[in-house]
Order: sequence, then structure tokens, then C-alpha cells
Amino acid sequence: MKKSKGKELGIVEMKNFLSYDEKIEEKTNTFEKIMTIYEMAIEELETKISILQKEFKVFYNYDLIDHVNTRIKEPASILNKMNKKGYELTYKEMIENINDIAGVRIICQLKDDIFKIRNLIEKVPGINIEEEKDYVNYPKESGYSSYHMIVEVPVTLSKQIIYVKVEIQIRTLAMDFWASLEHKMKYKSEKEVDKKTSKELVNYAKIVNKLDSKIMLLN
Ligand code: GTP
Ligand code: MG
Repeated sequence: MKKSKGKELGIVEMKNFLSYDEKIEEKTNTFEKIMTIYEMAIEELETKISILQKEFKVFYNYDLIDHVNTRIKEPASILNKMNKKGYELTYKEMIENINDIAGVRIICQLKDDIFKIRNLIEKVPGINIEEEKDYVNYPKESGYSSYHMIVEVPVTLSKQIIYVKVEIQIRTLAMDFWASLEHKMKYKSEKEVDKKTSKELVNYAKIVNKLDSKIMLLN
């Protein structure tokens, strides 16, 4: 394959791509355009992850990645978070501060694989790691365990390249099972979950952790 000799495209920061000082209004053109850019970033990242997944399966006969889920945050959820955190409701504030508008969740079978996947993502050309949180070695008080990364993904448009923030969560099947359950019961619920249930959930998280460690040794 010949190397293409395309002209270099300028790099533009997401927050400077359009005039973002305006107030956020759902269901407008600007909102739709911004969300489309986040969707493009997800597509870009999903493809890269899918290539790694296939490579490991076909070339090394290893299921490194079980499956991948993606989502764009609901407009109402974005505004809710901005209100809660006291941000001004402008696109600029949204792009600068809400890092999980685009979300990619990578589910694997073994705890060790989480860090293998993390290291592979680090090596993907063009992807910049902005922030990392290791809730695998340091679970949250709730019991929550996963590896979080905020990365910047280049989206190549016709006239420029835009770097877009995406939140990546990497976790095992067992961690995912626990998080889904707990999320439904607690994380986003309006009413408080009673102390006994909370304790029980932390307990289950510990069981999940033990299970993950045992399965890892089995392999
Ligand atoms: P958010 O304001 O919720 O985004 O938290 P943050 O900015 O401090 O980021 P953090 O890395 O702590 O959490 C981001 C995401 O991780 C959340 O949106 C959830 O998807 C997930 N998460 C974090 N804590 C918990 C938890 O205790 N339970 C569950 N089920 N999910 C969690
Ligand atoms: Mg979040």
C-alpha cells in the first residue's frame, strides 16, 4: 500500500470549533453538531478497540476484550450534571468540564486484562491520555471497581482535526455485573439506600473482587 501524501490538516480545539459561548439549548443545530462530533469520536475509538480485539482473537487466540459498550450522555443528564456542579450553561463550559459526554466501556474477562488493555490504549497513535483513575487497585468506598481514563481522540474532518474527550471505563464481567446492579439500586436513585443495603453491596463488591482474583489464578 502506498503512503498517501495528504496535506496536513490544522488541529482545532473542540471548544474553538464553533462559537461556543452561547447558552446551551437542547434540540438546536449547535447542540446537534456538538453531539455529532462526540459520536464521531466514539466511532473512531470503537474501531480502534475492535481492531485490537480482533488482533488478539485471531493472531494470539486470546479473548482480551469480551465486549464494548458505548453511549452518548443524554442532554437532560448533561444539564443536570452542569447544574449540580454549578457550571454556567454554555457550550464552552460543557465541553471543558463534562468529560463523560462520550463514554466507552470495555469489558474483559480477567482482572489482569484491564491493565493490558490500558497499556494498549496508551500506545495507540494519536490518542492522548488526559486523566486516569485506578478504582481497580483502589476501589471506591461504595465498593465500585473499574479503571477510568479520560482520553482525547482525534476526529479528522475535511478541514481540520478536532480532539474530543472520551471517558473510557475498563472492567471485568464480574465488576460490570456488580456496577449495573448497584447503579440501579443506588448510584442514580433519588432516595437514599438504607445502611444495611449499602453494607451488603460493599460486601458483594468484595466477593466479586475475590472471584476476579481467583479466576485470574486459575488462568
Ligand atoms: P461523576 O460526576 O459521576 O462523573 O463522577 P466523577 O467525575 O468523580 O468520576 P468518577 O470517575 O468517580 O465516576 C464516573 C463514572 O463512573 C460514573 O458516571 C459511573 O458510570 C461510574 N461510577 C463511579 N462511581 C460509581 C459507583 O459507586 N457505582 C457505580 N455503579 N458506578 C460508579
Ligand atoms: Mg459520569
